[in-house]
Amino acid sequence: MKALLCETLGPPETLVLRDLPDPVPGPGEVAVETAAAALNFFDSLIIEGKYQYKPDLPFSPGAEFSGIVRAAGEGVSDFKPGDRVMGNLGWGTCREIVVAPAKKLVHVPDGADLEQAAGLIVTYGTTLHALKDRARLKPGETLAVLGAAGGVGAAAIEIGKIMGARVIAVASSAEKLDFCRSIGADETIDYSKEDLKVRLKELTGGKGADVVYDPVGGEYAEAALRSTAWEGRFLVIGFAAGEIPKIPLNLVLLKGCDIVGVFWGRFAELDPEGDRANIRQLLDWMAEGKLSVAIHGRYPLDKTADALGAITRREVKGKVLIVP
Ligand SMILES: NC(=O)c1ccc[n+]([C@@H]2O[C@H](COP(=O)([O-])OP(=O)(O)OC[C@H]3O[C@@H](n4cnc5c(N)ncnc54)[C@H](OP(=O)(O)O)[C@@H]3O)[C@@H](O)[C@H]2O)c1
Repeated sequence: MKALLCETLGPPETLVLRDLPDPVPGPGEVAVETAAAALNFFDSLIIEGKYQYKPDLPFSPGAEFSGIVRAAGEGVSDFKPGDRVMGNLGWGTCREIVVAPAKKLVHVPDGADLEQAAGLIVTYGTTLHALKDRARLKPGETLAVLGAAGGVGAAAIEIGKIMGARVIAVASSAEKLDFCRSIGADETIDYSKEDLKVRLKELTGGKGADVVYDPVGGEYAEAALRSTAWEGRFLVIGFAAGEIPKIPLNLVLLKGCDIVGVFWGRFAELDPEGDRANIRQLLDWMAEGKLSVAIHGRYPLDKTADALGAITRREVKGKVLIVP
């Protein structure tokens, strides 16, 4: 099988494509023929050794994937050859055959697109945990989403609408904002041209957003916090802009609001049943046609560097798939 490998830490151009023997599943494991692996922003960090998880070399990037079961190892009763499955392994899925622990896989129901399912777990799992479990978003509340055309941002627009919120999408170009509207955003702000704090206040009648979803950080975090409503919730999702903001705590006191941390990977470890219930909910919404999982592009294994480049150049709208 072909596998994309990170053999030395470095930028995407240092990844290499290798031929490896087809892997055989051990006890409790399942071998899956990859339909698609989905990339996330953190894949650009993990291959440079700059992410919180530091796998032993060599490893394949790509945390999440979907595919068809090829063989089940000893003691596995939940999966059989031909089953459609998906999973999040943290890394290791940019390869033609993935061997995964059975407990990390879930069935993809009929009606859900197998390739799109590859991009569902990380961004949508993070976002459902953030909006439901952490922010307790209520129907009729206003949700402001920064970096709204990116992976987690697009998920926040779609899930926010399903949960009954009015969604304000914030992104850095007219093209990205058109995309945000196409997947359900009610209002848009271009923070490369408009004053984020002023526009958020204008669009909420001076009240501010009930929930702010921030995967970007940098200079925008404080501006968005200053436009958070009384008893609002500011969700700390990530720092794609690179800079970790330092927030004056008097703002939190004056606004009577909460700054809420979101660490989906840890939540999934500590509460696997809660996470599984969330993933089942997402798959049901997908099968019912409520979630689209917009795909920015599909790339073959040997073009993974281009795919990661699109993410770091800030070009992506939705999810990037690697289709071996
Ligand atoms: N907390 C958790 O559990 C969790 C889970 C998953 C991901 N995350 C984090 O969430 C963040 C976003 O992940 P993602 O996969 O959605 O990424 P993505 O698809 O690349 O989207 C990130 C967005 O951030 C904005 N951005 C601003 N400055 C940027 C820069 N210098 N480089 C790249 N993008 C920049 C871009 O939107 P504009 O151009 O519109 O500004 C871009 O669309 C990452 O920090 C990731 O680690 C956290």
